[in-house]
This record gives sequence, structure tokens and C-alpha cells, in this order.
Amino acid sequence: MTLYDLKGRDLVCLTEYTGEEIRRIIEAGLDFKRRYYSGERSIPVLSGKSIAMIFEKPSTRTRVSFEVAAWELGAKALYLGWRDLQLGRGETIEDTGRVLSRYVDGIVARVKEHEKLERLASAADVPVINALSDLSHPCQALADYMTLLELKGRLEGLTLAFVGDGSDNVLHSLLVAGAKLGVNIRVASPRELRPDSRILEHALSAAKKTGARIEIVEDPFEAVKDADAIYTDVWVSMGQEEMREEKVRLLRKYQVNTELMSHAKPDAVFMHCLPAHRGEEVTDEVIDGPRSAVWVEAENRLHVQKAILALLLS
Ligand code: CP
Ligand code: NVA
Repeated sequence: MTLYDLKGRDLVCLTEYTGEEIRRIIEAGLDFKRRYYSGERSIPVLSGKSIAMIFEKPSTRTRVSFEVAAWELGAKALYLGWRDLQLGRGETIEDTGRVLSRYVDGIVARVKEHEKLERLASAADVPVINALSDLSHPCQALADYMTLLELKGRLEGLTLAFVGDGSDNVLHSLLVAGAKLGVNIRVASPRELRPDSRILEHALSAAKKTGARIEIVEDPFEAVKDADAIYTDVWVSMGQEEMREEKVRLLRKYQVNTELMSHAKPDAVFMHCLPAHRGEEVTDEVIDGPRSAVWVEAENRLHVQKAILALLLS
């Protein structure tokens, strides 16, 4: 595998990456997947390296896929719960980053507030990788576009309809990466839940260069019309529990169900980053149905995580 020059870079937000760099990571992910299925699980390009993984919120997919990816690349990943670190007692994120940089070759971090990642990245001397923040989830979006490329054979010109919470962190990363990859994105969300304005501006300006269309509408049926992929995420993200009642009220008509899916292209796939709140943003019939791509997406987290680690840390 030829490694594009991403060595030493942080991955805090995809706004810092070009379309070419994003494509490079996705293609490396597909390459790791092909090698995995031809029996090459262990590819020790990170032999002898260590990775610190700080988690301020729970995780199943991100934690396990990063740990297994590191292991299969020959590196050691250390899971560090926020409250088990001195961070939980008030040590600053900057001091933590400086100290960890003396021990490890990279830091993966899932945080509540995005600015903590920015502070960590500026203090640390090793690459910092965003494992989800309140603003974005770049590793998820990379796995999602890898999945679309794998299933549809192309990305440019596809239409992805996101139905639900327009202020969702996963959607923000899908918008930025999609615009740069030439994927048209239609967001159907209530007026009260629109994407972050800086993210939207960045996506709109990137879309001008690639010709991707970014549209924000209110009607879910309008958004899914002729779409190639229908994407949704939970209505109540981690840390938003006190907003549950209000968000459920606003999002009630944004459920992805069989009727909504019938307005997309007949071969449209259903996508969700997981965990799903079944019966809320999606019905069992759709998520367990023949057009659901959610298990491929979840699996692809592993392959794309390998690509990210190999490209940034090797
Ligand atoms: N999709 C995702 O990031 O899942 P986890 O919260 O389980 O890591
Ligand atoms: N929007 C969700 C994504 C979980 C992977 C959350 O932040 O909880």
C-alpha cells in the first residue's frame, strides 16, 4: 500500500481535510477490508507503537473497532475512562496531552465539548483523532462513505438524504465530507434543529467546487425523493437527555419507516451510525429489512479505523 502523506496529522474535524485526502482514507479502508477477507488480518505497520484512547462518553463501536484495529496493526491501545484519569479531578486537557505525548504515538479522544479536542490537539505533540464530540464524528462519516462506495460503486453524484436532527454531530461530518466527495446531501429537519452554521458554510463552499448540491428542507418526503441512501441518527444524543421531551416532540414526523423508504429509489439503502433507538427514529422493519446497510457500516468502522491509524501514525 502506498501511504499518502498524512503522517503526523490530527483528525479533529474533516473541515481540515481535502476531498482527495478523505478519498485516500476511504480507499485505504477498502484496501484493508479486502486484505482482511483474503486472510491478512494482521498487518503490523504500527508495530511497537502505543495509542491512548480517552473516553468522556460511552462507546461500543468506536472503542472496540479502534482497539481491534490497533491490535491488528501491531500497536497497543490503552482505554482511558475520563474519570479514571486525573482529568476527572481537574487536571487540564492541555497538561494531559503534553504528558501523554511523552508516552504514546497517538491519542484518540471522545469528548463532550468539541473545543476540548482542539485544546488537546494544540497541546499534544502526537496526532489527535476525534472519536466523537458534540460537533462532529469524522471517523463515522469516513466509514459511511466507504460503505456507500462499496455498495454503490461510486460516490460522486449520489444523493444521501438525512432525516431527523439537523444539528446532529454525525450529520455535520457527513455534510463536510459529502460536499468534498461530490455527494448531494438533502437534510430534512425541523426549523429549530438546523446544522451548525460554520459547518454548513464550510460544506456549501466545498460543494461549489465539486458541484454537490446541499439542501435543507423541512419535509422528509421531499428529502428522500429519488435518494440513493436514507440516513438517520438518534433524536436524543449522548448528553442531551434533559432535552428528550422537546426533541421527541419536534422530531415525531421524522421517523424512517417503510412508507418513507418507499419514496426513495427502489435500491436505496438505509444507513444509521448506531446505536439506534428502535421505534423512535427508525422502525424495526427498516433497520432489520433487506435495504439496511447498518451492519456493513458498523463493520467498516474497523477497516477505516485501520486506515486512519496507519496513515496518520505509521
Ligand atoms: N457509531 C458509534 O460511534 O457508536 P459508539 O457510540 O458505540 O462508538
Ligand atoms: N449523535 C449520537 C451519535 C452516537 C454515535 C450521539 O452523539 O449520541
